Amino acid sequence: MNFPVTRMRRLRRTEAMRSLVRETHLHPGALIYPLFICPGEGVRKEIGSMPGVYNLSVDEAMKEAEACAGLGIGGLLLFGLPAEKDEQATGAWAADGIVQTALRAFKKNRALDSLVQIADVCLCEYTSHGHCGVVGRDGDHYEIENDSSVALLAKTAASLAAAGADIVAPSDMMDGRVAAIRNALDGGGHQQIPVLSYASKFASAFYGPFREAADSAPQFGDRRSYQMDGANLREAMREIDQDITEGTDMVLMKPAMPYLDVIRAARERYDVPMGAYQVSGEYSMLHAAFARGWLEPERAMMESLTSIRRAGADFIVTYFAKDAAKVLG
Ligand code: PBG
Repeated sequence: MNFPVTRMRRLRRTEAMRSLVRETHLHPGALIYPLFICPGEGVRKEIGSMPGVYNLSVDEAMKEAEACAGLGIGGLLLFGLPAEKDEQATGAWAADGIVQTALRAFKKNRALDSLVQIADVCLCEYTSHGHCGVVGRDGDHYEIENDSSVALLAKTAASLAAAGADIVAPSDMMDGRVAAIRNALDGGGHQQIPVLSYASKFASAFYGPFREAADSAPQFGDRRSYQMDGANLREAMREIDQDITEGTDMVLMKPAMPYLDVIRAARERYDVPMGAYQVSGEYSMLHAAFARGWLEPERAMMESLTSIRRAGADFIVTYFAKDAAKVLG
């Protein structure tokens, strides 16, 4: 580059010029909105640490889903808050589980046909101890058991597919769950249902507000024996590799903003469709700054989403989906 022959600012002078040379675009169809479904009727309870995000009973969630469809949002990611929890996470795989019930109701509503309805597959919202798997105890020692958890996760995925989920998304980080879920889906006649695995999921402090939203904080210990250490990029590539080998159709990476390098590295290495999850803490942190007038809400929100897309995500799971879709028109 040779100043004054080259003047980078020539292409920045007007919005029309900037729009012409813009490299990264967002569109509502590539945004996915998470919903937290709870028992009851007429329930719409705001989550303290997540302004504008609610626990919703099925009827209220239906209204929220219709609003999402109206905004052209690409899909929903469903989480459940069951009435009862136990050691075997019965509510996760019960035919009349909370997410299964929501899916059956949603599937009858043609106005929601434009939304890809994704069911999160995990046990943490359904276990009495809040871990993502089965807890095996030996005196004072405990372990989150892998293989018995995988069996329950596979059962959960099949049950969610039977209820109408368009995609199942395991977020537990047990080993071998993608293959087991694929098997269970195929065995149950759901060969057409894709798996979106949270392949690269880090043990992150940024999930804090979600655990309030989904009432899923572990009652003892933490998730570091199954979720990845935030210091590891190569390990994330191995996780993605493993999930692709086991037959995942797409991968999800989370968190997003503190792990943009992981998204970029994965994008350069793999050709499967990739999503990134801008998690609860990322949303809460931005909202906290908005509330203080420290950041311009619309600009900061759009910049955060653009950065995730620029890093290489095809689609983004975000609590800002509705707000961003409104901006995008
Ligand atoms: C369940 C799950 C979690 C999130 C998505 N699925 C919580 C966790 O692993 O503790 C976090 C999403 C968010 O923070 O928005 N395993």
